[in-house]
Amino acid sequence: MAEYTTEKSVIDVVNLSKAFGPKVVLSNVNLSVKEGESLAVLGGSGTGKTVLLRNIMGLLTPDSGHVTVDGKTIHKLSRDELFETRKKIGMCFQMAALFDSMTVEENIAFSLRRHTNMTKTQIASRVDECLNMVGMKDTQKLKPVELSGGMKRRVGFARAIALKPKILLFDEPTTGLDPVMTDVIGRIILGLKMELGVTSITITHDLKSAFNIADRVALLFRGECIACETPEAFQSNAHPVVQQFLKGDADGPFLQDPPPPKWTLSRKGTT
Ligand SMILES: Nc1ncnc2c1ncn2[C@@H]1O[C@H](COP(=O)(O)OP(=O)(O)OP(=O)(O)O)[C@@H](O)[C@H]1O
Ligand SMILES: [Mg+2]
Repeated sequence: MAEYTTEKSVIDVVNLSKAFGPKVVLSNVNLSVKEGESLAVLGGSGTGKTVLLRNIMGLLTPDSGHVTVDGKTIHKLSRDELFETRKKIGMCFQMAALFDSMTVEENIAFSLRRHTNMTKTQIASRVDECLNMVGMKDTQKLKPVELSGGMKRRVGFARAIALKPKILLFDEPTTGLDPVMTDVIGRIILGLKMELGVTSITITHDLKSAFNIADRVALLFRGECIACETPEAFQSNAHPVVQQFLKGDADGPFLQDPPPPKWTLSRKGTT
């Protein structure tokens, strides 16, 4: 795909390590995302994908190594500097994480009220614009409880783009959605990249979306980044972990502790 035009790095993850007590979650991870580039990060549950995003956002401090966003080393920034840098990042949380007591409109307007001097009319118009961009026109007055999972994710996207960030981070934007809605969400992410030219990282388990939206695909395994390459190169990568992930096979290096059940699934049923 590679529509990005410069080689300027926007996010650099350099030798990043993070452990919680004795549990090593990230170990010397290196990743770099260029301006306008879309990176998909794959990895099994619990491999540290959300921890990676939280380090980029400055919500966690690395044990060693660092993350730079626009050349600024995140964990060295003062509170105010971190606040400024965070304004450049739109975060789409795992499961949307909307404020349940607020309407769709209030959820999206929240950061605009807090971080800008926009008037009520300007805010309302920006909210409409963001909702249109994610195909959620005329939902301003609804509460999150009235939305389906896919709608919540889209409102989460609208909230993330409200401040016109140059970076978007998506944490499992399609988990729990049906295949059609998964495709819709993938197209919206692609649309945001094309229309807004944002630099993005998308954490996903969905290979089809990853290959559709990403310029490069990375795979985390046991705290390490074992591949980071174009979707085409990734799909022909012979690494046994990459191959197991691509095939979705229970047998292989991914699951060892505990090992997978001994039964295998055939098309005719369980044998
Ligand atoms: N604040 C924390 N304190 C202690 N352990 C943590 C903390 N945050 C994450 N962990 C641990 O780090 C590991 C990685 O967590 P993380 O949420 O990054 O996984 P993930 O790859 O995003 O998984 P999933 O696909 O299920 O969302 C997990 O074992 C988790 O329990
Ligand atoms: Mg996660």
